[in-house]
Amino acid sequence: GNPVSFFEQVGGEETFRRVVARFYQEVKNDDVLLPLYPEEDLGPAEERLRLFLMQYWGGPHTYSDNRGHPRLRMRHVPFKIGPIERDAWLRCMRIAVDEAGLDEAHRKQLWDYLEMAANSLMNSLT
Ligand code: HEM
Repeated sequence: GNPVSFFEQVGGEETFRRVVARFYQEVKNDDVLLPLYPEEDLGPAEERLRLFLMQYWGGPHTYSDNRGHPRLRMRHVPFKIGPIERDAWLRCMRIAVDEAGLDEAHRKQLWDYLEMAANSLMNSLT
């Protein structure tokens, strides 16, 4: 039968909802990240990140139904992302992932991906 996706293995939408909500709770108090967000209401950005991650890990394709091909590098070009911004993003995400209650193998798989993705979206040396 179908292999069970990572999305399902970690608890489905509820888990991604929790992780991304916790991430944005940190962003709200982060002096490096908050100024990058074009809109005061972080709700829509939270939904986009949650739907993207759900899709990436084998869940529903709602992200692309709404937004098309992810093209994450292109979509981050408007924001200066150097080492300071990357580190701030990963600091917030680390808290969210660590508090999600995943077993160690899933936690590491998720974290390694996010670290790789954050590095790949840097577009400034400073
Ligand atoms: C959008 C910052 C890394 C996924 C955004 C936005 C900002 C931002 C300011 C616009 C908010 C909005 O959606 O309205 C950053 C910074 C990063 C980072 C500073 C540091 C490296 C990542 C990573 C991922 C990601 C690692 C995925 C694993 C997304 C997605 C969107 C987004 C899916 C919405 C794209 C769309 O559909 O328009 N990011 N981001 N970001 N980011 Fe990031």
